[in-house]
Amino acid sequence: MARVVAATAEAIEEAAEILRRGGLVAFPTETVYGLGANALDPVAAARIFEVKRRPAFDPLIVHVGDRAMLQQVVLEVLPAAELLIRRFWPGPLTLVLRRRPEVPRIVTAGLDTVAVREPSHPVALALIRRAGVPVAAPSANPFGRLSPTRAEHVARHLGDAVDLILDAGPTPYGIESTIVSVLDSPPQVLRLGAIPVEDLEAVLGPVEVTTVAHRPEAPGQLPAHYAPRTRLCIARAEEVPPSARAKSAYLAFQRAPEDGFAAVRVLSPRGDLREAAARLFDLLHELDGVGVERIYAEPVPEVGLGRAIMDRLRRASATES
Ligand code: TXA
Ligand code: MG
Repeated sequence: MARVVAATAEAIEEAAEILRRGGLVAFPTETVYGLGANALDPVAAARIFEVKRRPAFDPLIVHVGDRAMLQQVVLEVLPAAELLIRRFWPGPLTLVLRRRPEVPRIVTAGLDTVAVREPSHPVALALIRRAGVPVAAPSANPFGRLSPTRAEHVARHLGDAVDLILDAGPTPYGIESTIVSVLDSPPQVLRLGAIPVEDLEAVLGPVEVTTVAHRPEAPGQLPAHYAPRTRLCIARAEEVPPSARAKSAYLAFQRAPEDGFAAVRVLSPRGDLREAAARLFDLLHELDGVGVERIYAEPVPEVGLGRAIMDRLRRASATES
């Protein structure tokens, strides 16, 4: 069975040792739980792909604990990246920069670039700093499935394959980091996430959102991704025929619909997009477990974090080809 332990200083020390020895540790970040390995150890990184059953073309995010570690993995920090780092690090923003040759190719899936971020979650930061190595970590879920926002999600779906799962309760943002490439001009947002586009533009000026890739450079860009097992549709309650409701669950934004659905969850009674983002994957995991034929999700306003929420709902509802 997977070992799930509370993220005490002692447990973090043990986890750091596991990472240094080439093992796999699942750990909380401010966005979602990550499945970590020493980013400079290609064999350890390969285990991540194995455990996630992740296609080899899919590059990993490298998590750093300070500037020195950043310098270990990237060739140079461009001025635009510098501005973003000062404003948003440590935090849920991932930057795509040119990789140093020391970063194993399996980590970057053969690309000349590497995605990096310094997480702000105290457990993640302590773990990386104690380990003393950059940590490659995708979200700790099987490929294409819902991201884990609790240690139980990791234990349930990846369990035995992970050496240790550090538990620090639900993750504060609940949605993945925003990914930006400043290698192009204007900068490209490759994945919508916890830092709203508006906040990036306040620092950088206009950016381009290119989150639908024709080649799978970022699988978070694939149309069908982040999916629950139950079929998901985006619809308002009024649009769901009464006859279908008994066999369906409903994910409401602010207010629960009158009745008829087998199960209902509300993202944010206050109508707050930050709270809605934090609860999104959690509630989808719950509704995925109630045994209905379909989950209907109400659309949310597409401003700020609402854009990332709608992006995830659209991908989760896209049927796989
Ligand atoms: O919030 C997060 O970013 C979480 C936590 C654990 O930090 N991690 C996460 O990792 O979401 P993952 O592997 O599930 O998603 C990483 C995304 C992938 O879609 C990957 O293709 C993209 O980042 N990516 C990684 N390296 C890249 C690169 N060099 N260029 C473009 N995209 C890249
Ligand atoms: Mg992921």
